Amino acid sequence: MDHETERSAGGVGLPPSITVAVRLVVNGKPHDLALDPRVTLLDALRTHLGVTGPKMGCDAGACGACTVLVDGRRVNSCLMLAVAADGKSVVTVEGLAAGDDLNPLQEAFIRHDAFQCGYCTPGQLCSATALLREGVATTPEEIRLWMSGNLCRCGAYPNIVAAIAEVAAEGVH
Ligand code: FES
Ligand code: FES
Repeated sequence: MDHETERSAGGVGLPPSITVAVRLVVNGKPHDLALDPRVTLLDALRTHLGVTGPKMGCDAGACGACTVLVDGRRVNSCLMLAVAADGKSVVTVEGLAAGDDLNPLQEAFIRHDAFQCGYCTPGQLCSATALLREGVATTPEEIRLWMSGNLCRCGAYPNIVAAIAEVAAEGVH
């Protein structure tokens, strides 16, 4: 690296590389990592742990493709630093099924053809899982409202809402 590339546009030298110890319990399995403190939870999952269910869509908190559950609450993992999840339980779409047995929400998504490109589906499923636990999905309007942070670019919204509504009505989640 030459002298120029070591400097930012403002002429300030880059800080020395440091790492911090971070423990992530991902889908029930603990992982001890040494990470640059600027690494996001999404990058820790995808790049450092090879967990590819959470997708990088906008990388700016606007699409929901990166949604995971942290201690049971849905978060945009592109906006959360991995160090902020230290010691916490992280559940990705890979952790929603029990082995080959899909959960009722996943089965409902298949029944209703609630995905087309599939890119947003991991985030939609994680959000919907938390939504059902939150108990706020009692009408299609509420489901749309509380799922509004998860974008679908190909128009599967009616099917997604129908799948969530069906599982909410069954009360089996
Ligand atoms: S990639 Fe995180 S919200 Fe879009
Ligand atoms: S199903 Fe993912 S963007 Fe439409």
